Amino acid sequence: MAKMSDSYIDLTITSPPYDSLRSYNNQIHVVKTEFNGYTFPFEKIAQELFRVTKEGGVVVWVVGDSCIEGSETGNSFRQALFFRECGFNLFDTMIYSKPPRGAVGNNQTYWQAFEYMFVFSKGYPKTINLIKDRKNKESRKGDSGTKRLQNGDLLQLKRGGYGEFGRRTNIWEYNIGKGHSTGDAIAFEHPAIFPEKLAHDHIYTWSNIGDLVYDPMMGSGTVAKMCAIQDRNYLGSEINKDYCKIAEKRIAQKTLEYASGITI
Ligand SMILES: C[S@@+](CC[C@H](N)C(=O)[O-])C[C@H]1O[C@@H](n2cnc3c(N)ncnc32)[C@H](O)[C@@H]1O
Repeated sequence: MAKMSDSYIDLTITSPPYDSLRSYNNQIHVVKTEFNGYTFPFEKIAQELFRVTKEGGVVVWVVGDSCIEGSETGNSFRQALFFRECGFNLFDTMIYSKPPRGAVGNNQTYWQAFEYMFVFSKGYPKTINLIKDRKNKESRKGDSGTKRLQNGDLLQLKRGGYGEFGRRTNIWEYNIGKGHSTGDAIAFEHPAIFPEKLAHDHIYTWSNIGDLVYDPMMGSGTVAKMCAIQDRNYLGSEINKDYCKIAEKRIAQKTLEYASGITI
C-alpha cells in the first residue's frame, strides 16, 4: 500500500487474520497483546487504507472474534472503532451468517454462526447498488389518494408501490466449505477462505464495472477472482507466497464463471 498514491482505490474487501484462530502455514504474523487476543500491523493497515481510498470509496472488513478462557476478545469492535478514528464512517455493521455445519465449538455457548462485515466509507459511499432478492409477500402498484387536514384542506397523497422483490436485509447467509464456498479444490489449501458469493455481492453493491478493487490480505485470491468475473480491476497483497500461487492459479482459470457456479 505504501507504493500507492493517495485516493487510488474504489473498494477494498478483505478479511484479516482473526486473533489466534489460524496459523497460516505456521508463519508468525501476530504479536500477543494485553487483550489476550492477537494483532498484526492493524493500525498501520487501517491508516493506509484511509489514505489510499478514494472519496466515497468503501472498505468491507470481514472479521470475527475468538473466545479465550471464557471471554471473547472483542477485537473486531476495537478495529471498527479504530477505522472511525482514522476518518472512515461506519456505514453499516453487517452480518455474515453461516448455517451450522460439522461439530465445532465448546457446547457451552449457542452455536457460533456469524462474523461481522463492517462497511466503512470515506465520506458517503459513491456507489450503492442494493441487491433486491428478498421476496415480498405481495407486489403493489403505487396509488394516490387524499387526506382531510384539521383545517379542512385536502392533502394529496402518493403512495409508492413495491415489486415482487425488495432489498435484502444486512444479514447475509452463505453455505461454507467444499462445494459451497468455491468449486476450486485448490482454494482449500488455504485454511480460511470466505465464500466467493460473499465477495461477489459486496463487489456488486459497492463498485461499478472498471473500478479498482483491493484486498490487502488476499489469501487464496477470492476477491480477485470475483473481480475478474465482474469486470472490475483488482489488486491484492498477501504475505505468504504459497497463497499467492493459489490465487494466481484460481485467477488463471479460463472458465471462471463456471468454476464459481455464480449467475448474476
Ligand atoms: C482470513 S485470510 C484471507 C482469506 C481470503 N479472504 C480468501 O478468501 O482466501 C487472511 C490472510 O492474511 C494474510 N496476511 C496476514 N498478515 C498479512 C500482512 N501483513 N500482509 C498481507 N497479508 C497478510 C494471511 O497470510 C492470510 O492469507
